[in-house]
Amino acid sequence: MKYSRLRGTQDIVPPQIDTWRAVESVFARTFDRFGYQWIRTPIIESTDLFVRAVGEQSDIVTKEMYTFSDRGGRSITLRPENTAPVIRAYLENGLHRRGGVQRLCYTGPMFRYDRPQAGRYRQFYQVGAEAIGSDHPAIDVEMIQLVVDAFVGLGFTAPHVRVNSVGTELSRAPYRERLLAAMETNADAIAPDSLRRYRLNPLRIFDAKDVDNSLKSELPVISDYLVGRDAEHFNAVCSLLRDAGVHFVHDERLVRGLDYYTNTVFEMYSGAPGGGGAQSALCGGGRYDSLVEECGGAPTAAIGFSAGLERIIAALPDARATAQIIDGAVEYCVLCVGDGAAAQSLRTAAQLRALGNTTCDLSGRSRKKQLAAAHKSGARFAVVVDAQSDTLEVHDFSRNEQFDVSADELPGSLMSRRETGDAPA
Ligand code: HAM
Repeated sequence: MKYSRLRGTQDIVPPQIDTWRAVESVFARTFDRFGYQWIRTPIIESTDLFVRAVGEQSDIVTKEMYTFSDRGGRSITLRPENTAPVIRAYLENGLHRRGGVQRLCYTGPMFRYDRPQAGRYRQFYQVGAEAIGSDHPAIDVEMIQLVVDAFVGLGFTAPHVRVNSVGTELSRAPYRERLLAAMETNADAIAPDSLRRYRLNPLRIFDAKDVDNSLKSELPVISDYLVGRDAEHFNAVCSLLRDAGVHFVHDERLVRGLDYYTNTVFEMYSGAPGGGGAQSALCGGGRYDSLVEECGGAPTAAIGFSAGLERIIAALPDARATAQIIDGAVEYCVLCVGDGAAAQSLRTAAQLRALGNTTCDLSGRSRKKQLAAAHKSGARFAVVVDAQSDTLEVHDFSRNEQFDVSADELPGSLMSRRETGDAPA
């Protein structure tokens, strides 16, 4: 092999691709049921957008972006996430002028120069949604319900949501002081480089892999410092979640890796809390009530989530059953045998496509090989178009039967066989 794929990227090939299509279709169906509209934004954006929105000190911006200069000398970044691009597009296309809550959803590849490992890629796919235009706690709950609905639709029996609030500046400023003080008391236990980073963005310490859990458990948590509207908002979200029957855990140490979050944050895991299932988040999201304004719009509250498709697919309880949602299986194979059979083969295949998924074997190989391949493919019927014959030869593999039929009679005879099932009574 002369070329191979880059580290941290994947080819998604048949038959696994059916599982991908199925998972995407479950999300698409869920988005439709919740009244979301699709949006597509470019894969490349100005680097500034992510530096501003995701945060100058965040891991994504400092270590993980694919950034390059284009031929015009502009700094361009392959999108590491899609919330900032969606907000840019929302403002640039005047969606904010429509009023009310804009509910937008998307799917597509994201790029992060991360250390590749299980569930962590350099190109990965997200599906996600953003609801822009309301700070009502009920929107937070609706967003979490949407995620739970999609996960249940994918066969996860006990998905669990971890919820927390990271507050706004109102609560965060005094809390930051306390957290910094506690960090300084334990400074010996934190590597100097990391300490420097956490001093700039103290909340990130809860997400740190190089800080002991025992130390983290001694640090003050933001929940104890939520005041005023921040506290009211979080209490309302928790109470509405309970009322809606959503199973969730209040994880006081849950913080997120992107700096735009305010108030509610959440993540979704497949197994029971503390039990089996994926250890890394299948999905993450939260409120970002200042981002629209930071991107140049009027103050506008918003909330959203994104889910990693690779992680969801790896955690699916029954990938085969999920893949069957996609009606991709071929039912009819038309075999083109001998010179001069091409036109009729194409006509026959076109006719059969009105009944179901049909392929036409145009390999030019022998009739025997074509039949063997059709049988192996799992198709129910093979229809042999032979340049030497006036009739079509049909093989019904599920009944192990073979018969001749005219071109006119073909659709009718296949339909009646389909209706009477796989095998004779
Ligand atoms: P995030 O937590 O950075 O949030 O990513 C969301 C999900 O993308 C993760 O839970 C994970 O499933 C998947 N993911 C992230 N990085 C990787 C990777 N390197 N390889 C494979 N999967 C990965 C966001 O991106 C926010 N934009 C979510 C959001 C939307 N918040 C508000 N609206």
